[in-house]
Amino acid sequence: MAMPTIAFLECARCHQHHDAATPQTVCTFCAGPLYVRYDLSAAAGLKQRELIGKRAEDARWSGMWRYQQVLPAVETVALGEGWTPMLRSRRHPNVWLKEEGANPTGTFKARGLALAVTMARHYGIKKLAAPSAGNAGGALAAYAAAAGIEAHIFMPRDVPLANQVECHAYGAHLTLVDGLISDCGRIVAERKAAEGWFDISTLKEPFRVEGKKTMGYELVEQLGWEYPDAVFYPTGGGVGLIGMAKAFDELEQLGWVKGRRPKMIAIQDAGCAPVVRAFEQGEAACTAWQNAHTFASGLRVPKPYGDIEILKILRESGGVALALTDEQIFASLKDWASHEGILLSPEGAAATAAYDHLLATGFLKAKDRVVIFNTGSGSKYTDVIADRLRLEGFL
Ligand SMILES: Cc1ncc(COP(=O)(O)O)c(C=O)c1O
Ligand SMILES: [Zn+2]
Repeated sequence: MAMPTIAFLECARCHQHHDAATPQTVCTFCAGPLYVRYDLSAAAGLKQRELIGKRAEDARWSGMWRYQQVLPAVETVALGEGWTPMLRSRRHPNVWLKEEGANPTGTFKARGLALAVTMARHYGIKKLAAPSAGNAGGALAAYAAAAGIEAHIFMPRDVPLANQVECHAYGAHLTLVDGLISDCGRIVAERKAAEGWFDISTLKEPFRVEGKKTMGYELVEQLGWEYPDAVFYPTGGGVGLIGMAKAFDELEQLGWVKGRRPKMIAIQDAGCAPVVRAFEQGEAACTAWQNAHTFASGLRVPKPYGDIEILKILRESGGVALALTDEQIFASLKDWASHEGILLSPEGAAATAAYDHLLATGFLKAKDRVVIFNTGSGSKYTDVIADRLRLEGFL
């Protein structure tokens, strides 16, 4: 079982090929995001699938790297990412919660940054920079520390305390910005040439999406190599949705999966819902959301870079985009904590609230098999959760 070499990078929009021998950012023709392409013929078929998880190292731990047949063949920077629990709900027999809070730094951001930092080290990059809604910054700080690379991180001033603390503890250079992730992104873009930073922003390099695709492989493997009926994904930049759709394309090409592709459900916060608005209005792309404010800080992305890809995936899968209010989200967070023993992140609670809603409207039936992503651990949000509990008179 060999890890494949990258054949080329392909633009998601104009399909031009780019060379993976040197670091690439976005498509040089149309600025679209780039996808990693391999010759997958050596990995095709059920015999190859049976090899997954069978290496000697797997006895200790392999995490998301168990899918080494479909990941780049380079030495990894690993901290324990991936192969997260798939927990069956105690109340809904057809609901599985993909517990991404089990990742290093407590969120699914670890997957994308593990691979992006792995590749950055492979290319010999010395300084990385990124804007972040919070959790990506924490994950970048950890992987950069492990790889011996400098990290320059820009976050809104009001991100959860845990995100700031982890950046400092891991030795990253953190700048808090009076503004949103879009303002942080502008600062990185303006300064990167002079500072010699490589921009590792969401979808502005090919490997964060490639790391996040492992969520698609895992959910299919954990359901016995079968698709569920629907996947609920709290959507900010949409990298996970795009990564999972790429995984499904590959799984079908490899002959590793049975059934029909799931409906992809994108969940946003009513205080910042550009994908929902564009979806409902039949638009192909998003317009920037003004005055974005959310309880779920990871969903505060006024205009995702991969908006065209996200909207296409939702529509082609027969899925939907919907927004929940902070009150609905917090009610679901408390519901899952007190009835299931799981402290969801606000983003994960947006997804569980969305499930209840789509069951009530009849869009989904109780017999439909559903995977809900809890993209992060609620423990990273104790300050934010405490504020809401105070509002309700508990603290
Ligand atoms: C916990 C959490 N969930 C969801 C998201 C949104 O992720 P994506 O950019 O893949 O849509 C974020 C992004 O910061 C996050 O931190
Ligand atoms: Zn292009």
